[in-house]
Amino acid sequence: MKRTHHCNELRPAHIGQTVTLSGWVHSRRDLGGLIFIDIRDREGRTQTVFDPSDLAKELFDQAASLRSECVVSITGKVRQRPAGTNNAKIPTGEVEVMATALEVLNMAEVLPFPVDDPEVSSKVNEELRLKYRYLDLRRPEMARNLRLRSKVANATRGYMEEQGFLEVETPILFKSTPEGAREFIVPNRREPGTVYALPQSPQQFKQMLMVAGVERYYQLARCFRDEDQRADRQLEFTQLDLEMSFIEREDIYALIEGLLKRVWKIALNVDVPTPFKRISFEEALNRYGIDKPDTRFGMELVDFTEEFKASAFKVFSGQIANGGVVKALNAKGMAGATQGQIETMTEYAKSFGAKGLAYIKVENGEWKSPIVKFFNDAEKQALIAKLKIVEGDLILFAADQWLNACEILGKIRLYCADVLKGQGKLTIPADQFSFLWVIEFPLLGFDREQNRWYSSHHPFTAPVAADIPLLKSDPKKVRGQHYDIVVNGVELGGGSIRIHQPAVQKTIFEELLQIPPDLVQARFGYMLEAFKYGAPPHGGIALGFDRLIAILCNTPSIRDVIAFPKTAKGTCLMTDSPGMVEPKQLRDLHLELRVKQPPPTPPKA
Ligand code: AMO
Ligand code: AMP
Repeated sequence: MKRTHHCNELRPAHIGQTVTLSGWVHSRRDLGGLIFIDIRDREGRTQTVFDPSDLAKELFDQAASLRSECVVSITGKVRQRPAGTNNAKIPTGEVEVMATALEVLNMAEVLPFPVDDPEVSSKVNEELRLKYRYLDLRRPEMARNLRLRSKVANATRGYMEEQGFLEVETPILFKSTPEGAREFIVPNRREPGTVYALPQSPQQFKQMLMVAGVERYYQLARCFRDEDQRADRQLEFTQLDLEMSFIEREDIYALIEGLLKRVWKIALNVDVPTPFKRISFEEALNRYGIDKPDTRFGMELVDFTEEFKASAFKVFSGQIANGGVVKALNAKGMAGATQGQIETMTEYAKSFGAKGLAYIKVENGEWKSPIVKFFNDAEKQALIAKLKIVEGDLILFAADQWLNACEILGKIRLYCADVLKGQGKLTIPADQFSFLWVIEFPLLGFDREQNRWYSSHHPFTAPVAADIPLLKSDPKKVRGQHYDIVVNGVELGGGSIRIHQPAVQKTIFEELLQIPPDLVQARFGYMLEAFKYGAPPHGGIALGFDRLIAILCNTPSIRDVIAFPKTAKGTCLMTDSPGMVEPKQLRDLHLELRVKQPPPTPPKA
């Protein structure tokens, strides 16, 4: 070993010992004839000192030639730092190592960006960071994220094993799964025209494991979805995926609450109170306008459908006559919004399908608004009472069909929260975590364009037992046994109790989702058959593991907790993938491209 200690280990108790440290030159300072080299490894850093009066000139000159990020081994004696030079910011700050030997293990060129100064490196453009990801990961903040991820994965496995779960790996080469996203396809060389699809999740395999009698399965599973990339979405990502037999929804809630409690304690030393609050899908939309509400602040939506039924303001009464609703929210402290800002907000609302965004600014004791002239006293009184209107408030309205009105104001609520945060009028402590189960989702949604039903979660989700008779007569009323776990407005995970009766599953596929029977047979025939041979009742959930770590690391982007993430365009800038293939590979796969490939570059002579 080229080291006796890690760079975070030395303390006054080591004074007098001869030690060897190996790592990277974090910084070099030449001061008063001495050279100070901070050496850094995975664990931390230690100050070493090169004194020309003690060292051969050659050795001293070599130390003087080192630049940041050279790889070195330094041997020397630990001593107390001279009075007044302690560094309280690092755990080794009371001591230093008086170098007696230096081995340069490798030199380093000047880095494309510094990794030793969080102030500077946090401003480095992300594309550059991703191109040189191996350097980016040297930054202590990124190294910390990777370590926390490993620690949480380990704690998760420990918890799951304690709870009697078996870790089982499921295939990556699979076939189409109906989980909504576009899939990645792998052409099959052995049978021209056939393909594998990469799994969007191990959903079907985990259900087969329940039929197989595994009873409790889990996996840190890689999933693949060809979706538009966002801060919280990657083409490939990791789920903590699990499934259990002979259980009800309550068992999943208790299991996940126990897991998250453990993880928060281990990762952040925070005690999370359990059980978590629960809210129905309908209530979440009514109050927050979204199925993953951030409940750390209020600004709740309030319904005024009753009050404006007969309003002289036709925009409202007209929508209500049409089966719609009127909803409003009170953005306290935003009455100062300029006309331009209101227009920006209106355009934003319109991008989600709003027809307009009526408003009232409460300024200097006056209601400034183009619409109050239509309101009678009773309407005004109702607004004051239900929205608790005072000076400085900005009231915003959406009149539309229920779901639209809720969702539009839900977006506006988050928008206003961001504005208020920016103005320092709303502060949410970084260590505040608001966990929430969202339950009682409708089993099905209706796609007006395609004129058919689709599964809100996936087609394997069981209906609430009491609602099964409505499946054929009134599908929209059927609630699913589906649950989402939400924290601070982020959908951390989702799952459901599954259908385990082949007849119910067949009804869902063929009669409600209108998948032609031969396609059902081709895609899911094996599942329907498996369910005939003694399928236990079962259910499960999957947590987005990257999202979980991002929340724990307090970073908005899951790219910061994935070692080698892809850009918004789906590329890996470090390895330059995806790339072209050789014509021979295409021929082997029986593929022909319709786009022209650039001619292959001839090999260098
Ligand atoms: P679902 O599709 O809701 O359920 O996914 C579960 C969780 O996975 C995370 N997630 C993602 N994370 C990063 N990038 C993505 N592109 C991405 N897509 C999803 C989210 C989400 O809540 N098989 C079901 C689970 C089940 O029913 O047991 C499933 O995959 O955090
Ligand atoms: P108009 O009568 O169309 O000029 O609209 C008057 C005000 O109502 C404007 O501020 C519009 O933005 C707003 N508005 C129009 N339609 C709606 C709607 N469906 N919901 C909420 N506000 C609306």
